[in-house]
Amino acid sequence: MSKTIIDWLAAREPVDAHSRSRELATAFAAIVAASDLIVDLGCGTGANFRFLDTYLGPMQRWLGIDNDIDLLKRAAACLPKDRVALKEMNLATDFQQVPFGKGFALTASAFLDMTSKPWLTRLAAHGCETPILIAMSTSSQPLWRPSHHLDEAIRLRVESRQRSDHGFGPSLGTDAANFLADLLRDAGCQVTTRESNWTLGPADRFLIAMMIEGVARRAQSIDASIDSSDWASMRKDQLLQNQLGLVVKHTDLLSIPPGHIVALDEN
Ligand SMILES: C[S@@+](CC[C@H](N)C(=O)[O-])C[C@H]1O[C@@H](n2cnc3c(N)ncnc32)[C@H](O)[C@@H]1O
Repeated sequence: MSKTIIDWLAAREPVDAHSRSRELATAFAAIVAASDLIVDLGCGTGANFRFLDTYLGPMQRWLGIDNDIDLLKRAAACLPKDRVALKEMNLATDFQQVPFGKGFALTASAFLDMTSKPWLTRLAAHGCETPILIAMSTSSQPLWRPSHHLDEAIRLRVESRQRSDHGFGPSLGTDAANFLADLLRDAGCQVTTRESNWTLGPADRFLIAMMIEGVARRAQSIDASIDSSDWASMRKDQLLQNQLGLVVKHTDLLSIPPGHIVALDEN
C-alpha cells in the first residue's frame, strides 16, 4: 500500500511545488519566529518541508506528524535529522497532542480535504492564536478536456468516495478549505486564500496516468455497474496522443492570528 502512496506523493510533489502560492508561503515565513516549531500535519515523506524550507530560516525546527510508518521512514531517510523530528500519530484520534499557540506554527499540504466538520471546528478553536498555512486542499473534482459522456457519472462517484469517512468523520472534501477559512475569520484571524490549481498537459503524463487509474478505481469501488475501464482506456489513448488536459483546482489558506499585521489582498 505504501509503495503506491510513495509513488503518488513523488509524482505530485513537483506539480504541487509549481502550483503553490509563493505569496502565502512568503507571508507565512514573515510571521513565523526563528524559534517557532513548525508542525506539519500529515507530513508524508516531507514535501511540505522541502517546499517551505527555502522560505524559512536555515535553523527552523520542524515536527512532522503522520500515521503511516512507511512514509515516516521515507521522510526520516531524506530530511535533516538535526532540524526535523517525526512522530507517528493518528491526527483523528490524538488531536489533543497537536501543539498550538505561542512558539508553534502549523502547516499541512494535500491533507485538509479528508477531514470533517467536527475536526476542522476543533482545529479552528485551537488554532486561532497560531500562524497556519494549509496548502493544496482540493477544491474541485478533476476537469478533463476533452469531455467524455461518462465524466459526470464518474465525477459523482469519486465525489461520494471523497466525502466518505477517512478516519475523521464524513470528509468535507472540496469544501474543507472554505469551511476552515470561515471559522478562522469568525475567530478574528486574518485569513487569505489563493488558488493553487493543477493545470496538467502532455508534460505531466505520469501524474495524469496515475489520476486516470485512481479516478477509475475509486468510481468503480463506489458503483461496480459503471464502466470506468472503458473510460480509462479512452483517456489513456488520448494521453498517448497528447490530446488530454486535466485541471484540478486547489486552495492554499493562510491564517494570521490577531495582533500580527501583514499586507495581503483579500482573496
Ligand atoms: C496526500 S498525503 C500528503 C502528504 C504530504 N503532506 C505531501 O504533501 O506530500 C496525506 C497524508 O496524510 C496522512 N494521514 C492521513 N490520515 C491521517 C491521520 N489520521 N493521522 C495522521 N496522518 C494522516 C497520510 O498518511 C498522508 O501522508
